[in-house]
Amino acid sequence: MRAFASLSFAALALTAFSAVSQTPTTPKVTAPKASLATPQVAQTPPMGWNSWNFFFGKVTDKNIRDSADQIVSTGMKDAGYVYVNIDDTWEGERDASGVLHTNAKFPDMKALADYVHSKGLKIGIYSGPGPKTCAGYAGSLGHEEQDAQLYASWGIDYLKYDLCSFIPEVMEKQAPNDKAAQMKLMIAAYDKMDKALKATGRPIVYSLCQYGWDAVWEWAPALGGNLWRTTGDVQPDWDRIYAIVSQQEGLERYAGPGHWNDPDMLEVGNGKLSLAENRTHFSLWAMLAAPLLAGNDLPNMKPEIKAILTNREVIAIDQDRLGKQGARVYSEGEVDVWARPLAGGAVAIAVVNAGSDRYATHPFHLNLRKLSLDGSQTGKDLWTGKTVELTENMPLELASHDVLLVRVDAPKAAK
Ligand code: GLA
Repeated sequence: MRAFASLSFAALALTAFSAVSQTPTTPKVTAPKASLATPQVAQTPPMGWNSWNFFFGKVTDKNIRDSADQIVSTGMKDAGYVYVNIDDTWEGERDASGVLHTNAKFPDMKALADYVHSKGLKIGIYSGPGPKTCAGYAGSLGHEEQDAQLYASWGIDYLKYDLCSFIPEVMEKQAPNDKAAQMKLMIAAYDKMDKALKATGRPIVYSLCQYGWDAVWEWAPALGGNLWRTTGDVQPDWDRIYAIVSQQEGLERYAGPGHWNDPDMLEVGNGKLSLAENRTHFSLWAMLAAPLLAGNDLPNMKPEIKAILTNREVIAIDQDRLGKQGARVYSEGEVDVWARPLAGGAVAIAVVNAGSDRYATHPFHLNLRKLSLDGSQTGKDLWTGKTVELTENMPLELASHDVLLVRVDAPKAAK
């Protein structure tokens, strides 16, 4: 699969570069391509916090510092959250030499990065290949190397690169009505920033955000992407979260150490999600080996939300060193059953009641055979901390949108 992906990417990239090399704004890029065999970053799905899902365009330098402080004081850092990521709306204007400056909300990016680093954390930033970002701020088009060098000079450790205006301003203008040519332009743009980042010599996590178009999972790993969004934007709403989860089907074979599917950032603690919904959202992101980027208001985080975000045993599922993404193995009515293989032969099982009512009077019955398991299995319920015995055909009573998440360390496999 990987060999195929690299080959097809190489072919695409060649044609893509011949297509764009005639444009005067495309400088020659000579940085070496990253080898899939030796990825330097994101060996497990990146963990941290991102400003967008709570602050949107209002985020300031102070919000980032406060969030970094909270990541340390709440124990999130100790639980594995490392990246403090500034999303869109930090950008100011370019000067006469093309150097991008921050806007008034971020008076000194280097000082901010130093502050975040002084807490033992890492810092991320946001841009896009178009002339403008999604929120209408300056993008990197024509300034990719300059911007990458600027990020490195600030000490940036993570870049989210968001397609947005590249679609109308480059893809649709340069290749009207030609989707294949548009895709090549897009791939070339992501490749260009990857090379610019590599040329800085600084390990920088590269996060592709183009909403899962053109089977991005097939070409992003070979291009150097450490993660790639698989869908449009998440919202703090059960239906949206469940729709995103349903769109991950079949993508598990593309994830692995250094390169992950990204079903978007966490909404745990945001909006009106119930406690069960927050728990299920977090459990499913762990089953999906998804990046765990919290997006809530950390200084005002409720204890029950902190308990979800810092549940180390659920985090251990997400961060499992085998790096194999889980899959929905079967559904029965509105109940979904997921499994994820873990290092050492262990397995994580998640049973989710996606329905709008409880399963009390007519409980769902677990089918272990469908999970290739034989007979009763001893495991740990990762939300109650209790030992559980999973038996064939056992009734499970789950509240609406709630989850049973069990880790079985020594599963008995069906012959
Ligand atoms: C897009 C992305 C979001 C966020 C915003 C910022 O919508 O998908 O995650 O970065 O842009 O403008």
